[in-house]
Formats: sequence, structure tokens, C-alpha cells
Amino acid sequence: MRRKLAAGNWKMNGTGDALAELTALLTAQPDPSCDVLVCLPATLLHRAAEAVRGRYLKIGAQDCHAAASGAHTGDISAAMLIDAGASHVILGHSERRADHGETDAQVRAKAGAAQAAGMTPIVCVGETLSQREAARALDVIAEQLSGSLPDDARFVVAYEPVWAIGTGKVATLDQIAEIHAHMRRLLTARYGDAGQPVPLLYGGSVKAANAAEIFAVPDVDGALVGGASLKAADFAPIVAALSAQ
Ligand code: PGA
Repeated sequence: MRRKLAAGNWKMNGTGDALAELTALLTAQPDPSCDVLVCLPATLLHRAAEAVRGRYLKIGAQDCHAAASGAHTGDISAAMLIDAGASHVILGHSERRADHGETDAQVRAKAGAAQAAGMTPIVCVGETLSQREAARALDVIAEQLSGSLPDDARFVVAYEPVWAIGTGKVATLDQIAEIHAHMRRLLTARYGDAGQPVPLLYGGSVKAANAAEIFAVPDVDGALVGGASLKAADFAPIVAALSAQ
């Protein structure tokens, strides 16, 4: 059985006072039937983990270094993230691929490091608008999965079309269905039965108003939610929609 996952990505947003949103989420959704994760800035991880201790809500990070330790000023290792209370880490988000020039090979190395430390990587892939317009979306996704995923199938994949992130422009249900079926086929071809439990998330302008129809698409096991994860009032109905699936 594949587990459903509603994951929030706060990106570079939030200081201590924003942690009240996590407790508000727990109040609004005291017992969902899906997994729920919020990926926070590193500065909030420890406080967040303390704030939700003993509850179902999991805490995640947004990047890690590929090395376990060493002379890497400003970077954070997977072991440090676990120490701060994180169980998951987003890797290869398109904003990191664009802003920091992260390559598939680097994402794969980070994913392996996260797994070795005991974390679950959430590996992000997604085509740009020009790649989609050139009818290259399927090839781009295949290339990114092949280059970014580690050999051990214990990870989550998030399909996030770059043109749908933070734009309010959500992919159509047909586009989501096509890419998710493609990803499922590729995972089965590479990992066999071990790939079956891998949850496939959709991300890109998911909100309460479109969550239920997206979650009803075959091979969609949840969402990676940016803007609409910042406020409990916006994220709780998305969690409820997945929980109701
Ligand atoms: P968005 O971001 O929901 O604000 O479009 C999604 C993401 O980048 O993970």
C-alpha cells in the first residue's frame, strides 16, 4: 500500500512566530488518515520539532549537503537535520536547480547522503514552459529521474512543472495524469516491486479549491504545497482533501 502524503514547503519564509501555524494545523486537523509533513527553513526545525512532539505532524528540511561533515561553510548535513528533528528533506527543487545551479548528479548525491543518514529524500523534477512547448516534458522528466534518483528506492518523488510553481497556473488534470503515469512506469522499470511504495506528489499552485480533483488523478499520492502551506487555514483543507481520498 502506498501512503498518501501532504507536504508543505515554506521555502525562505517564517520566523519563530510562524510556528503558531503548525499548532493551528494540528487543531484544525487533529487526526488525518494521510501523512502530513511541513518542510521548514533550517532555523525553525528544532523549535518546530519540539512544538509538534508526540503528534502526527512530521518536520522536514529543504536541502542538505552531500557530505556528512567537513569544510563547507554555510552548508548543513543530513545528520544535522535529523539532529534538529527533521525526517524528510526536499532535494532538487527547481528553485535550487535554478538559483544554485544544482545538477541531477548533485541531487542524486544529496539523496544518497540523506538516505545514509536515515532521512527520506523528496526528489523534485519538472519541466520548464519552453520544454513543455517543445513537447519535451516526458523526456525531461525521464532524464531528471534517471539522473537524480539514488539506487535505493526509499524516497518520495515530486512532479513540479516549473511554470506552475507560485504562478497560480496549475497543470491540467490530463497533464498531471500523463506525467504521473510516465513516472510510475519509469520507477517500475528501474526498481521493480521496490518502486511500488514510492509516493508521487504533484506540486505547483495546489490550493484548497483544486486539491480534491488533483488527488483524484490516478498515480497522484499527494502534493508538495508552497504558498498554500504557510497558513493553517489554507493548508488544513488540503490535508482534509487528501485524507478523504
Ligand atoms: P506553490 O509552490 O504551491 O507556491 O506553487 C510549490 C513548490 O514550489 O513546492
